[in-house]
Amino acid sequence: MLFTIDKAKKIIEKEIEKHTFGEHPNELYEPIRYIMSIGGKRMRPILMILSYRLFNEDLKKCIKPAIAAEAFHNFTLMHDDIMDDAPLRRGKPTVHEKWDVNTAILSGDVMLVKTYELLLTVEKKYLHDFLHLFNTMAARVCEGQQMDMNFEKREDVTLDEYMEMIKRKTAELLAFCMEAGALLAGADSKNRQLLKDCGYHAGIAFQLMDDLLDLYGDAHIFGKTVGGDIVANKKTYLLLTALSRAKENDKEKLKQLLSLDGIYAEEKIKEVKKIFDKLEVRTITELKINEYFEKAFQCLRKTEASMMHKNQLKKYLETLSNRNQ
Ligand code: IPE
Ligand code: IPE
Ligand code: MG
Ligand code: MG
Ligand code: MG
Repeated sequence: MLFTIDKAKKIIEKEIEKHTFGEHPNELYEPIRYIMSIGGKRMRPILMILSYRLFNEDLKKCIKPAIAAEAFHNFTLMHDDIMDDAPLRRGKPTVHEKWDVNTAILSGDVMLVKTYELLLTVEKKYLHDFLHLFNTMAARVCEGQQMDMNFEKREDVTLDEYMEMIKRKTAELLAFCMEAGALLAGADSKNRQLLKDCGYHAGIAFQLMDDLLDLYGDAHIFGKTVGGDIVANKKTYLLLTALSRAKENDKEKLKQLLSLDGIYAEEKIKEVKKIFDKLEVRTITELKINEYFEKAFQCLRKTEASMMHKNQLKKYLETLSNRNQ
């Protein structure tokens, strides 16, 4: 029977709603329920479940691990928003804004612990391999986040360094979700590897798109402050592309804008965007995004599973490539 994306989403929402994470003290657990309930695409659990469904019909064994992936993702967001000084998440105040920084640190910490609790539901024969994959991924996400922070203070970041950074901070988790889904479903190592690679490429495309939407997205739909990356001097694909294409004049201007602390955020965003537009940075980024989604589709095509289920996964990746949220 056809297993649809909508069905996967419903299962996930229902399971998240049921999950309380903990009770006392309320100040510790309320922010967790808050961040888990204010929406989000639920991309990571959807990818895990759709990857699982390629090889196995009995979804029960995959639901809690899928929720764990979403909990881990939300934990990284709670801390990422402190690090990026971001006021908005999914159109709502971030946890450190609504409560305070200490609350966001500690609720995030216990969220990671509760993620491991959920992971203990993994079938015994897969538990060791699953935890090994998870731990490797989780450390890489932290490495990517540290690189992202280091790059804020550097002017000479290369595109290769940027690609390495986004692979870690974002693509690792998508690759994990797809590989873990295949693992839990009993897929062989060849197909596990194909799905992992599919997740990697989709994850790179996804972060490139996040960089793009950070400037060119509609704030109401995207749910984050537009231009935040420029204000924080993030070394995004857009900025590095602009720096590599700019003639001396624009390059100097960009560097000057990056070094200005006192300048009004809106003014800085406007000036940087003007240079990006002139250098066609948006189109170049879009081409790169398509290139990586195409690589993801190629891996999916090679995966040995039913066409019908592969099409659902392909359809889902296509919705991600057309997203504005
Ligand atoms: C945001 O992830 C963090 C990035 C890796 C860019 P999402 O864009 O998947 O956020 P939600 O969960 O849908 O809000
Ligand atoms: C975040 O990248 C990746 C992780 C949370 C690990 P961003 O900092 O670009 O994500 P957003 O834009 O805040 O969602
Ligand atoms: Mg960040
Ligand atoms: Mg951020
Ligand atoms: Mg971003």
